[in-house]
Amino acid sequence: MSKLSQRHLLGIKDITRQDIELIFETADNFKDVINRPIKKVPSLRDVTIANVFFENSTRTRLSFELAEKRLSADVVNFSASGSSVKKGETLLDTVNNILAMKVDMVVMRHASAGAPHFLSKHIKANIVNAGDGTHEHPTQALLDTFSIREKLGSVEGKKIAIIGDILHSRVALSNIFALKKLGAEVMVCGPPTLIPKFISSLGVEVELEVQKALDWCDVANVLRIQLERQQLKYFPSLREYTLYYGINKKMLDDLDKEIVLMHPGPINRGVELTSDAADSHHSIILDQVENGVAVRMAVLYLLAGAA
Ligand code: CP
Repeated sequence: MSKLSQRHLLGIKDITRQDIELIFETADNFKDVINRPIKKVPSLRDVTIANVFFENSTRTRLSFELAEKRLSADVVNFSASGSSVKKGETLLDTVNNILAMKVDMVVMRHASAGAPHFLSKHIKANIVNAGDGTHEHPTQALLDTFSIREKLGSVEGKKIAIIGDILHSRVALSNIFALKKLGAEVMVCGPPTLIPKFISSLGVEVELEVQKALDWCDVANVLRIQLERQQLKYFPSLREYTLYYGINKKMLDDLDKEIVLMHPGPINRGVELTSDAADSHHSIILDQVENGVAVRMAVLYLLAGAA
């Protein structure tokens, strides 16, 4: 099988294990390509892709743009700041105007959950969700699980603890869907106020003590506290959060086994992770970023029907 079951990538919830494995196999090939002296292939020549970002991003936006350029696509970038969105233009009008310029694919980040799903019902172009509110961030979960497979040989049967602000995290939800589809055991850990009530229904364990989560897992995927999405106070202070949920290198060194440390970025150094942990031999944080380009090349290539 060399085709995805969907023509958009809106969320991991909508795709199959076979889709994920196809993306991984395709990304393996593209990882070889981007490590060659000539990092470019002509696969998406004559395909035009718009990166439409209504919310801030460093990694995802750069990674998509590099992936597109390495596939030889034509690329246009749009940011809400400085655009006619500020004059009251709707999401649909904005995107339809971009598409009128003969754009084939839209990579979209939006603060509202469901924004790319809404668009997919109204436009013909392929859509890739680059993060919608607190809902899903499918390419982050694909690059995270690809990085676990690369480091540990497979995802099946591995114990993954997702630690931090689960409530506001699209990365957590997409990772849970991807990890469960690939046969991993999943635990979420954080303060009770930052763990959604529905989470057990997704087949994950809940642990409130970070030391127990570290003792249990093969991989700790640590998430940042998303203060910008918190309307209420979910814990007394950042200092108290760090005291109970912060991870430092000594905690990792003192475990009776090696575990892999991950973080999707951006890191709040000194809050969820100390610098000595983030920069330690346990960490594969920059491998995740490197793998992001190959995984996004695979997603764009497969959605464009180039396979
Ligand atoms: N991991 C991630 O989505 O980072 P950005 O917000 O910088 O894109």
